[in-house]
Amino acid sequence: MSGGVYGGDEVGALVFDIGSFSIRAGYAGEDCPKADFPTSLGAHVEEEGPAEMGSEQENTSGRSFYLDTTALHVPRAGVELISPLKNGMIEEWEGFQAIMDHVYSKHIKSEPSLHPVLMSEAPWNSRANREKLTELMFEHYNIPAFFLCKTAVLTAFANGRATGLVLDSGATHTTAIPVHDGYVLQQGIVKSPLAGDFITMQCREMFQEMNIEIIPPYMIASKEAVREGASPIWTKKDKIPPVTKSWHTYMCNEVIQDFQASVLQVSDSPYDEQVAAQMPTLHYEMPSGYNGDYGAERLRIPEGLFDPSNVKGLSGNTMLGVGHVVTTSIGMCDIDIRPGLYGSVIVTGGNTLLQGFTERLNRELSQKAPPSMRLKLIASSSSMERRFSPWIGGSILASLGTFQQMWISKQEYDEGGKQSVERKCP
Ligand SMILES: Nc1ncnc2c1ncn2[C@@H]1O[C@H](COP(=O)(O)OP(=O)(O)OP(=O)(O)O)[C@@H](O)[C@H]1O
Ligand SMILES: [Mg+2]
Repeated sequence: MSGGVYGGDEVGALVFDIGSFSIRAGYAGEDCPKADFPTSLGAHVEEEGPAEMGSEQENTSGRSFYLDTTALHVPRAGVELISPLKNGMIEEWEGFQAIMDHVYSKHIKSEPSLHPVLMSEAPWNSRANREKLTELMFEHYNIPAFFLCKTAVLTAFANGRATGLVLDSGATHTTAIPVHDGYVLQQGIVKSPLAGDFITMQCREMFQEMNIEIIPPYMIASKEAVREGASPIWTKKDKIPPVTKSWHTYMCNEVIQDFQASVLQVSDSPYDEQVAAQMPTLHYEMPSGYNGDYGAERLRIPEGLFDPSNVKGLSGNTMLGVGHVVTTSIGMCDIDIRPGLYGSVIVTGGNTLLQGFTERLNRELSQKAPPSMRLKLIASSSSMERRFSPWIGGSILASLGTFQQMWISKQEYDEGGKQSVERKCP
């Protein structure tokens, strides 16, 4: 990339997509991120003495962080699991910095001062948060140029559109975000907490009811083949340090997430017990060796996404199912632009990879949309594109010639301060 408007000797812009579930980072212009690792961190408060060597990083509060797939999975005494994000926004800044330091040193292997940074943000990110991030990137990382862009806008770009309704179902939330001419229409954002984490929770409850214990791989030294439905026979690793509950739960959730992706399927029409009972069963084996066939459960669990009314524990709930999230959002936008939104419903986020998700959404929207409206669902068949769409959109945007004047340059930051982000990044 040439020096462009921000000037300097930069070698290439970096793109970061910070999700609640995973961090995606890499070079603009490439097809997919170089790094994709869990957002959750192990955090340990050092009591005394020097920290052991490893991929941990120590910070001013005396905490060590263990992050990225390998280090996170090593059982360690007293390491609590924390997430630097809350409600899609950065909240735990020290943890966030540990992530950034790690990306620069272990994945990019380069100096932050050499690369402009384009970062995604939740469409509801707060002003204080955006300014704090801008300040951190310029003051602490000394980057030459910065840009913040809403995830939904980036997803629309990744799909070759500047206008569309972005339906994003990730780990912590499902949202419908109207994008018009490259801008988010804030008044039309509709959000529901029914997403991937909710499905994980539903599965956990089901396993509890079935008396199936989830044993994460870190505990297992060996296992034996057992017949279907029988108690698993496995031996426990010796010398497992006393891990915390939060860390153990995360490891259990990973086992469940694999089950989620492998077994569950969204029913193509509203859940019907008789139909579900006819569902072909699927065999699934847990790390402990426990194995069983799953039938009706495959449809029953994800049904809550589309029809929350029967979900246990959400009594009297007013939560919206996915179809309603979309129609409500479009209904809050100006009548003139609704056809453009119905004509480009862009489906993104890891949770939409559940089998049958887009088919069911298409069916519901065909029924709910006004009859005169032409409806079109845009859902990439590649799971990478579905999970990485904001990153891919950022990769495209940051390498466009016409974008180069959009960066907040270091000079502009020095002159205008952190408020520059309000002016330059709508
Ligand atoms: N193939 C799959 N089938 C079903 N669910 C999946 C699949 N792959 C990922 N998921 C689920 O998708 C969720 C992660 O989605 P995604 O990567 O879009 O989240 P994120 O952008 O990091 O988080 P958020 O958008 O909530 O801030 C997790 O709940 C994960 O279990
Ligand atoms: Mg996301």
